Amino acid sequence: MKSKMATTASDFFEQTKVPDNYDAKKQAMLQFVEFHRRKTTKIVLITSGGTTVPLESRTVRFIDNFSIGTRGASSAEHFLDSGYAVIFLHRHRSLEPYTRHFSQQTMLDALHVGEDDTISVDEAKAPNLRSILVKYKQSKSERRLLNVDFNAVGEYLYLLKAACQVLGQVGSKVMIYLAAAVSDFYIPSSEMPEHKIQSSGGPLQIHLQLVPKMLGPLVKEWVPQAFITSFKLETDVSLLESKARKALQTYDHQVVIANILETRKLEVVLITRDCAEKIALSEEQIKNNVAIEELIVEHLAAMHDSHITGELSNIDT
Ligand code: PMT
Repeated sequence: MKSKMATTASDFFEQTKVPDNYDAKKQAMLQFVEFHRRKTTKIVLITSGGTTVPLESRTVRFIDNFSIGTRGASSAEHFLDSGYAVIFLHRHRSLEPYTRHFSQQTMLDALHVGEDDTISVDEAKAPNLRSILVKYKQSKSERRLLNVDFNAVGEYLYLLKAACQVLGQVGSKVMIYLAAAVSDFYIPSSEMPEHKIQSSGGPLQIHLQLVPKMLGPLVKEWVPQAFITSFKLETDVSLLESKARKALQTYDHQVVIANILETRKLEVVLITRDCAEKIALSEEQIKNNVAIEELIVEHLAAMHDSHITGELSNIDT
């Protein structure tokens, strides 16, 4: 029997199983937000990495996408540098702020065991390691970074909603930064086989349903006062700006950042109701390993400040 298709966000949540550890993760986000909301700290929710689409309930196989979470992890470091508290909602085992600079192998290669059995860091690697370590330790001691992980698209959307519900209490001090590469298609639980699909059944045909767009309820109901940035990813340059503008008109949030798969690390277009601004790394910046996320975060943090001031002046009048 075919299941009823989830055409709205609430249908989707009704038909999708609550993820494991959901309560514990929501509680951790609640405590984090409680800790920061009374301070002047701005809070950003960053989503990062790709969502999976499981083919079986006891998942052996799943559909995935290209994202390893560079945009999200790099942006998180720059938001932390700008004084934000960061909820980093990321795909399990995708890149994370600070640790992304070191693979397990480069970490081991940077260490030496001395004759007296003490461990030291390679002179050449020490400055780079030190500067990252200082920032990492600072964000930890100030409790400004909370990592929350997900795998499947359903789990991601449950946790996104939970994070927004928690942040909805905080008002305009909150930024939502939707950098995750979110699947548009999925298999509803009711249509998913429980056990591993057997190859003895012959070639596999799968039927995927559309995941409802969550930006609508997110903007209108979950965090209506927040400063919301979504991303628009395309591979066809001729579609990019028009689709990004359409997203802004449809959802009526603050910013869409438009990017093309191949050039996303070099340039993006930041689109608001009033303008479209290209942000691109110069030759000099590329040579000096400047990350484009540094420029994106600089722009957004300034726009977020105006958003907060605008909210306050609206209350005053
Ligand atoms: O991780 P990297 O390798 O560094 O790559 C970064 C990135 C290319 C993934 C990132 O910059 C980016 O573009 N992320 C958004 C990708 C995406 O999902 O684009 P989209 O055009 O399919 O969706 C547009 C927006 O709708 C997204 O903000 C998404 O959060 C939202 N969406 C998507 C699906 C869905 N069911 N509901 C949604 O609200």
